[in-house]
Amino acid sequence: MKISKYLKIIFCECEFINVLAPMAGISDAEFCLKLIPYGFDMVTLGGYNSDQATIDAGKKIISRGRPEFDIKEEELIFSVEREAKKIKDKWNGKVAVNLRSISPEPIVEISKLKLVDVVEVNAHCRQKEITDIGCGQALLTRTDFMEEFLQEVVKKSKSKVSVKIRANVAGVNEVKLAGIIENCGADYLHVDAMKPGFKEADLEIIKKISTKTHIFLIGNNSITDLKSAQKMIKAGAQGISIARAAMKGYLDFKLYEF
Ligand SMILES: Cc1cc2nc3c(=O)[nH]c(=O)nc-3n(C[C@H](O)[C@H](O)[C@H](O)COP(=O)(O)O)c2cc1C
Repeated sequence: MKISKYLKIIFCECEFINVLAPMAGISDAEFCLKLIPYGFDMVTLGGYNSDQATIDAGKKIISRGRPEFDIKEEELIFSVEREAKKIKDKWNGKVAVNLRSISPEPIVEISKLKLVDVVEVNAHCRQKEITDIGCGQALLTRTDFMEEFLQEVVKKSKSKVSVKIRANVAGVNEVKLAGIIENCGADYLHVDAMKPGFKEADLEIIKKISTKTHIFLIGNNSITDLKSAQKMIKAGAQGISIARAAMKGYLDFKLYEF
């Protein structure tokens, strides 16, 4: 047995994490603080548009009625610092920040904030305005670009690095991509195991990724109770994340009973 696989087994046995997933326009400090008592170990601020191209794309998204954080490029760092502080003043769990950007620099800048534990590269957003500029989910099919981008983030980041991807995107081999992300040195792989046409997560994809890689895997999609959370862990994830089930500002179940 490879030593890394052995370590992963040990790791799995002692630490699973519950993550509050990002929701643009919703997941600020006030929202995270409402959810923390339900048993989250890590909460995610954002997603934030963090360079001019994504900020402009965000404005277009807002104009058709979807929620987004609309923060000026030069104000983002202060805004994230303020939100992270509001959380850390009351709680000593982990704060992650989900970021959309077409270049690594804004992500590296946010990683330098002392109160930020994890920067999360958004390779997940499927809003057309974001994918049209080659960002979000579009990164999944630009593997060479994504690899260079991630290497740069990992090399310069002062905090841990997570990458959030979406499963079942046409033309994307998730296992191969997970290997690339792992080789770049990212600390977490956050997978929205969306299965088009189904109300349940694609646990097969979680199984495949967890068998073929050793990266810390956070499984996401359609976790609405302890049973669905357990299924995600059983499929091989070391962490679960929740978005829509938390959207109302509370959960119908308690993760610390998990
Ligand atoms: C209103 C809304 C906004 C979202 N914004 C983001 C975002 O900014 N970044 C991101 O990576 N995912 C975003 N997501 C996706 C969620 O984090 C999550 O991956 C997805 O909703 C599936 O998980 P769930 O079934 O627990 O909701 C958003 C989802 C919703 C519903």
